Amino acid sequence: MVDWTELEKMCNNCTKCDLHKTKTNMVFGQGDIHTNLMFIGEAPGEQEDLSGIPFVGKSGQLFDKILTSVDISREEIYIANIIKCRPSQNRNPLDIEKKSCLPFLRNQVKLIHPKIIVCLGRVSAQSIINPNFKITKEHGIWFYRKGYCLIATYHPSALLRDPSKKRDAWEDFKTIKTKYDEFREKN
Ligand code: URA
Repeated sequence: MVDWTELEKMCNNCTKCDLHKTKTNMVFGQGDIHTNLMFIGEAPGEQEDLSGIPFVGKSGQLFDKILTSVDISREEIYIANIIKCRPSQNRNPLDIEKKSCLPFLRNQVKLIHPKIIVCLGRVSAQSIINPNFKITKEHGIWFYRKGYCLIATYHPSALLRDPSKKRDAWEDFKTIKTKYDEFREKN
């Protein structure tokens, strides 16, 4: 495990997969590194690649709205992705890209040591919780591992494609908020 500054430097200089050749910016993550609540998305999209900040495009705007609806601010969480460089045409990350990039995320998780980790979407849940994770069946369910409380919900872009999933996602966010409040009360 390396410290935060060194880790960010390593990510900026990374050439482990081909995505470094086509990226504009590596998207390291954003937020409070002392938080209890960490969100993990899939991969940077166009706006994230241009800005270097996660979840700033259309799905990021919806994510912000959902957070606000359960009274959580973006400043109090940390948000990162499974991979840190944008895959072209927003395709799903390849196995080699995930394999190359995941150790960086694991190092971030160890340094932040949040109580709660929320996977946004199937790709994230399959990388973090279980390779066979079924998002439609298993969203909103808590998994407990190595002292972390893990949960997955729909990716905001899935909600943009299919608004009928929004109701379930909102229930998941209320579940997340309840658990987050429990930890806040203990501290
Ligand atoms: N989708 C993601 O999974 N991550 C981002 O940062 C933006 C869109």
